[in-house]
Amino acid sequence: MKKQKIVILTGAGMSAESGIKTFRDAGGLWENYPVQQVASIEGYEENPRLVLDFYNARRKELLHTTPNHGHLMVAKLEEDFEVTVVTQNVDNLHERAGSSHVIHLHGELMKATSSRDPNDPACICELTPEHPDIHLGDKAADGSQLRPYIVWFGEAVPKFEDAVREAATADIFIIIGTSMQVYPAAGLISYIRPGTPVYVIDPKAVPVRSASPVHTISKGASEGMDELSKILLTR
Ligand code: APR
Repeated sequence: MKKQKIVILTGAGMSAESGIKTFRDAGGLWENYPVQQVASIEGYEENPRLVLDFYNARRKELLHTTPNHGHLMVAKLEEDFEVTVVTQNVDNLHERAGSSHVIHLHGELMKATSSRDPNDPACICELTPEHPDIHLGDKAADGSQLRPYIVWFGEAVPKFEDAVREAATADIFIIIGTSMQVYPAAGLISYIRPGTPVYVIDPKAVPVRSASPVHTISKGASEGMDELSKILLTR
């Protein structure tokens, strides 16, 4: 019997219980670093060294971070469902928890690329725990300055088309740990088929506009995924 398809949109709250700061909660990342300065293409062009150091620090933090129970429960859904994770997160915790189909809308912290054409597949390369940093003067395969493989504000989100194709064929749509404030990611829900059940896991109320029935679980990712897994397996 064909497995039902689940698409899960995740955000920074998915990794909060792994100790990684979210962006917009109190004490979030954007409180200490102005978004414009460290997460926009203008900021990078104005002060590349500051931006390279910002991502070098986040990469080092990631090397000392492990997937939380919520990531593991998301991966476990693959035992009973066909699962695609569409994440706004740049960490690799979904993959390290065992999720086998992950689409990163905003890039990947453990990868680097060309500053001339960031989406040139020939220039996208893996950074390793042994060599996690990018410095001024490091070169991509096309000879340009190597930069983080991150989608900054002001840049296109090329993977969104893949995410739309997945959402349009989902039988169940799940949202975990995102404030739904950044587009196009937050707009993914508008591509699900009418009537597709939506489940939202977040300790806070988030604005989810959908013609479909929305079931909210006001808990953190780990507890919320325990509760949702029971619901999904008794559907
Ligand atoms: N479990 C689940 N959700 C949580 C938890 C938790 N333990 N802790 C916080 N949250 C929720 C918050 O309530 C909030 O709704 O996670 C969400 C985090 O929202 P943001 O900080 O805005 O992060 P996100 O939605 O992923 O931001 C989207 O904005 O800054 C850019 O590119 C960056 O990908 C990011 C995008």
